[in-house]
Amino acid sequence: MRILGIETSCDETAAAIVEDGTKIISSALASSADMHAKTGGIIPEIAARQQIKSIIPVINETLISGNCKTSRDVNAIAVTVGPGLLGSLLVGVETAKTLAYIWNKPIIPVNHLTGHIYANWVKDDNDKKLKAPEFPLLALVVSGGHTDLVLMRAHGKIRWIGGTRDDAAGEAFDKSARVLGLPYPGGPSISKEAEKFFTNNPNPKLILFPRPLINEKNFDWSFSGLKTAVIKHVNSQVKNNNSTAQLATEVQEAIVESLVTKALRAVESYKPKGLVLAGGVAANKRLRDTFERKLANKSVFASLHVPKPKLCTDNAIYIASCAFFNYKPIHWSKITALPDLTITD
Ligand code: KG4
Ligand code: ZN
Repeated sequence: MRILGIETSCDETAAAIVEDGTKIISSALASSADMHAKTGGIIPEIAARQQIKSIIPVINETLISGNCKTSRDVNAIAVTVGPGLLGSLLVGVETAKTLAYIWNKPIIPVNHLTGHIYANWVKDDNDKKLKAPEFPLLALVVSGGHTDLVLMRAHGKIRWIGGTRDDAAGEAFDKSARVLGLPYPGGPSISKEAEKFFTNNPNPKLILFPRPLINEKNFDWSFSGLKTAVIKHVNSQVKNNNSTAQLATEVQEAIVESLVTKALRAVESYKPKGLVLAGGVAANKRLRDTFERKLANKSVFASLHVPKPKLCTDNAIYIASCAFFNYKPIHWSKITALPDLTITD
């Protein structure tokens, strides 16, 4: 079955065709991130306007490169309905509904957060041997607006076991980068600075910023204090002693250590077969490496699944994949944008 996925929840306009939830046939993406870099963060109105400009060219490109000559070459349409920015979501939702109506195709609404998890099922020609995650699994979804830890017993059977009480992990990267004068999006800028720092300091002691809730017996995080700690530090006299690269490395370490410690404690408690990372922050090399190293030292065994970095950040491939494994079409007229959706909705 070939599903055309459409994703417009934030500043990326994406479309993709995926076969049987795993094989990428084609994919196209336009991003307005460069425009937001100028203002240091996303302006929803600008993001929505760019979605309108890009949606038809992006879908066209996907259909052409996927060799789709008629509507018969696509079996169903999947669209992100939320969570996300209302103006951006509406563009994808209305376009998908229109296509479903005129092509007479089933349409499947997809939760963007659940969608991220399915990047772990997708393969391209180079990873034929890649094993699909096995249930039960724990999934850590770390994106720009959300940080959730969920237990999945099967496709569609999701139980929330923890998450952030305030800022998301990606938000902590973005806000801290802004304080440090690094460009948006903050995650990649901070990780670039940190890599520079590690080259000259292979084993630094990184303890400058707090890791709230790390010793508590829950699976929650709190990241809003990190930005404040960075502001305080930058404004204090110690400022001149630390380079931006060192502070960026400290920020990254505080986030990575918090995420890894709590998620691995959940692995010990729930003993899942696999631990799955997902969302834009999962593209972070330090996070990926730390999970791999620390999971190998645990007494309980769980296989680690991490999508390729380009599949971690927003795209429509995982939206199409999620729709295949959770195939619940509804009538096009019932599909609406739901900006406040949570991962268990
Ligand atoms: O999943 P995503 O692409 O969009 C949302 O659904 O929010 O995640 C975007 C977030 C941003 O906060 C961005 O700074 C972060 O993912 N991010 C990273 C990296 N690449 C993207 N954070 C840390 N390291 C990275 N390499
Ligand atoms: Zn996302």
